[in-house]
Amino acid sequence: WAMEVFVTRRIPAAGLRALSEAGGCTVRQWDSDEPVPRAELLAGVAGKQGLLCLLSDRIDKEVLDAAGSSLKVISTMSVGFDHLALHEIKKRGIRIGYTPDVLTDATAELSVALLLATCRRLPESVEEVKNGGWTTWKPLWMCGYGLSDSIVGIIGLGRIGQAVARRLKPFGVKKFLYAGSRPKPEIAAEFEAEFVPVTRLAEESDFIVVTCTLTPETEGVCNKDFFCRMKKNSVFINTSRGAVVNQEDLYNALVNGQIAAAGLDVTTPEPLPADHPLLSLKNCVILPHIGSATYATRNTMSVLAANNLLAGLKGEPMPSELLL
Ligand code: GLV
Ligand code: GLV
Repeated sequence: WAMEVFVTRRIPAAGLRALSEAGGCTVRQWDSDEPVPRAELLAGVAGKQGLLCLLSDRIDKEVLDAAGSSLKVISTMSVGFDHLALHEIKKRGIRIGYTPDVLTDATAELSVALLLATCRRLPESVEEVKNGGWTTWKPLWMCGYGLSDSIVGIIGLGRIGQAVARRLKPFGVKKFLYAGSRPKPEIAAEFEAEFVPVTRLAEESDFIVVTCTLTPETEGVCNKDFFCRMKKNSVFINTSRGAVVNQEDLYNALVNGQIAAAGLDVTTPEPLPADHPLLSLKNCVILPHIGSATYATRNTMSVLAANNLLAGLKGEPMPSELLL
């Protein structure tokens, strides 16, 4: 048993250790915090049996062709898989590992943090303290919207969406709505959440949290029509993938006062250029895709990604295989 794998980035030491301690596994790595240049990626995968990649690596036909027929397993250190050319990968009989479950709590926690930061205007408030805007306590200053008695709409009541609802419920949410590809009555029962068309979710929610997978069906669903249906005092949160949102439509909705505020942990592109129009808006809070960023979660993700890769290379069941 002798296998060569390519790791596209510096990852937590625990993950790399799991690979290097597996006898017979030779690791080549782009050992940097910066993304692997495309040419290095193409050269790096050539002749390898395994590829450990990140959500920022686009694994398309060109990469698969560069890898050649040796490639047996792709293991992404992410729950999202929209960066993988699934059809091309399946065609070649390559197995895919990913990291669901282990990042659910961290990502749900970040979603709640972003929601609260956005609806209670925390970044703006912090800025006012620093820039001298805090002159006295003012009854009408820095008011936002709270969760008590609110209606929360969740787009994608999957693992992360459920964990968000579970955390928001104690804040006094009055009702949960959810939209997605199909109703999930057993799961929704815990929150007495009602399955509704995305149009109705937009119209009735005070807070909307997007936690769905990016697929051809969800791409751009938060568009002009969607934002026009939202209430003027409602808050929009996205911690899934930027492409679920039409950003130009979101910008217009925020500028025209069609919605109150937005909090985004994901954008298109990533990183968002520092001069992007959305960054000029006080009612838009943007984070650099840190949903799963706790030390413990990133460690666990790296070990799971390594174990998925090793199991796949040995032809064994993976701890978390993406079955197409
Ligand atoms: C993060 O966005 C992930 O897909 O793990
Ligand atoms: C998010 O990725 C989910 O599981 O819904």
